[in-house]
Amino acid sequence: MEPCPAHARLFSSRPQAAEEKDLRHFIWVLADSGHLVRIREVVDWRFEMGRIARDRRVPLLFENIKDYPGARVFTNGLSSPKTIALALGLQPSLEPENLAEAQRREANPIKPKLVEIAPVLENIVEGREVDLLMLPVPHWNNQDAGRYLGTWHINVTKDPETGSRNVGVYRMQLLGARQATVSTSPRSHLARHFAKAEKQGQALPMAVAIGVSEPVIMAAAAAYPNEMDEFELAGGLQQEAIQLMRCKTVDLEVPANSEIVIEGFIQPGIRVQDGPYFDYAGNRDTNLRAYLFNATRLMFRNNPIFRGTSIGVAGAEDHQLFAFLAQLNLVDFHGSRLKQAVQNILLKQRCFPTFQLSGKIGASISHFKTLLHPASRS
Ligand SMILES: Cc1cc2nc3c(=O)[nH]c(=O)nc-3n(C[C@H](O)[C@H](O)[C@H](O)COP(=O)(O)O)c2cc1C
Repeated sequence: MEPCPAHARLFSSRPQAAEEKDLRHFIWVLADSGHLVRIREVVDWRFEMGRIARDRRVPLLFENIKDYPGARVFTNGLSSPKTIALALGLQPSLEPENLAEAQRREANPIKPKLVEIAPVLENIVEGREVDLLMLPVPHWNNQDAGRYLGTWHINVTKDPETGSRNVGVYRMQLLGARQATVSTSPRSHLARHFAKAEKQGQALPMAVAIGVSEPVIMAAAAAYPNEMDEFELAGGLQQEAIQLMRCKTVDLEVPANSEIVIEGFIQPGIRVQDGPYFDYAGNRDTNLRAYLFNATRLMFRNNPIFRGTSIGVAGAEDHQLFAFLAQLNLVDFHGSRLKQAVQNILLKQRCFPTFQLSGKIGASISHFKTLLHPASRS
């Protein structure tokens, strides 16, 4: 493993102007500033990649993945305040100024724009040909029940009644060639969309985009009012309109320069087990009432870069992202007000071990409540 001063062979060509602020551009910036570690040795997607990611805690590009010749996995992009600044196009050294600039950007969202030409349309697989196992989906932790397709991705849905869009990050465990779980808190906006669809006996269309620009992930993870569009917040943070393309089998839009897009539907009337999964608090969390997602279409760029993350340790990149969002008052774990207030303070102070402890205590209380009142489960 070596730090990467030279990045000439990172991509077959320098990222094009039209794709300037996509994930590849960020990886390029990290390489250019000496923050990227490229791993060219063969690494096993089963446990080994996750172990390295949790140990190293710096941006890593895995370029040689067992069983997946030619595939690459990028992780830990936002593993420090410095790389968060780089993802926003800011100077890593200017901390107080950067916070003021991020607040200014948050207050000035930019509407996304629809485009016809999308790099993600370079490869398209439909219907029964869809095989999610062709992606180098890591089994991040030997404590996880399986491989996680969605750990640092976006889930896009629309409210079946109002048509308003939600973009969030909700973990997804791979269940087979065309199936995955969707694990979400019952108070999340996705859960509200699905509840409405299910009441009508309908499946909920959903698009999953993996390998999007980091400001899109920041916006998706942010607490943003239900009727407001996270792509507008992402545009503000990124300082340019997010370019969206229309999906084909679902009436949804996704970033045109995503590395990978999966279209599909969440099935009504079905719940499946997600996990155990080593979550942000370091808990082995199991969701017995996760949703079931059936994929209908898979699109990916040439030589796609899979983006994911291995969490569960104090200060991992999800904590770094939450600490950044807490400074903007954009964190909501859909827990009690007290838990929310405590977690906000801990994140702002970057007390990550205590933040994890608060998550563990919260999970134990919820578990206890469920034992006392089984009917209260979502
Ligand atoms: C890496 C990462 C993983 C997350 N996983 C989940 C998850 O599995 N389920 C969930 O409900 N929220 C998860 N979140 C938090 C949501 O993305 C966050 O609460 C977001 O604000 C949800 O949006 P909503 O309020 O529009 O539903 C995750 C966040 C991050 C950054």
